[in-house]
Amino acid sequence: MKNSTIVVFSGSANPLLGKEIAKKAKAKLGNLKIEKFPDGESYCRFDEDIAGKKVFIIQSVCPPVSENLVELLLILDAAKRMKPKKLIVIIPYYGYARQDRIVKKGEPVSAQLVARAIKLAGADGVIALDLHSKAVEKFLKPKKHLKALPTIAAYFRKKKIKKLVVVAPDYGALKNAKKQAKVLKAKTAVIKKKRLSGKKVKMEGIEGNVHGKNCVIIDDIISTGGTMAQAIRLLKKHGAENVYAAATHGLFVGPCIKRLNAAKPKEIIVTNSIPQKEHCKKLKKLKVVSIASLLAKEIK
Ligand code: R5P
Repeated sequence: MKNSTIVVFSGSANPLLGKEIAKKAKAKLGNLKIEKFPDGESYCRFDEDIAGKKVFIIQSVCPPVSENLVELLLILDAAKRMKPKKLIVIIPYYGYARQDRIVKKGEPVSAQLVARAIKLAGADGVIALDLHSKAVEKFLKPKKHLKALPTIAAYFRKKKIKKLVVVAPDYGALKNAKKQAKVLKAKTAVIKKKRLSGKKVKMEGIEGNVHGKNCVIIDDIISTGGTMAQAIRLLKKHGAENVYAAATHGLFVGPCIKRLNAAKPKEIIVTNSIPQKEHCKKLKKLKVVSIASLLAKEIK
């Protein structure tokens, strides 16, 4: 039976995930009208009363990033004005996260500003999934910071892959890779990555044995695919048998699809924190695991 004091609303960034979460949480998916003005401005309106209810808004800040962010802020503002008992926002993918510090003088700390804006717009709390860094976590102060690691691990466990090595694409990702390796009873390796400029990185070698092994590279985001494609190639050069590329958030922007198709991984595994229907058509090796149950548990 559905809980009538809880209502879930989905923004337009990832409606399929919103629907799946509401269903798994046995909560009502509320009516929220979302439109665009002729000049491109976002518009939203709650088509039902939410006064006194516990309201969950689901919105990923994925491409078109700024449009989805503004839409989220408008939804929160509209919701707050209707006086819900609690207004919680579930952000499966938090955009602007990689702008979490000043690299060159004169830049904003966008990840912090976005966190402030979400709070200012009316959110009483945030539930997030695999935030990019500790700094982002500090800015956003989520009530719950969920991890996709068990969901991704479950996918690999079912495959019963032998001679498995979990590979961190850089030292920053090593802690996560070690956790994943422990769950999968696998070994770890790490790629020695050198940053040449803001956009260019060079992978210089591997710490750990990957020769003849089946490797799973674990990262938080696949964006332009530069990191993953270079890592796949390097592992193959060092004799890896099969290379799987896994990440929580699959943005697949710019040259990503072309790069990953050319690098020929055995599979690419991401969650549905970002809609993947279109990417699946172009990336034949793409497998999507759902984080709907993980997020629905928080609503329940
Ligand atoms: C870097 O800090 C992140 O963890 C990812 O490695 C990065 O965002 C991936 O970007 P791209 O796919 O453009 O190489």
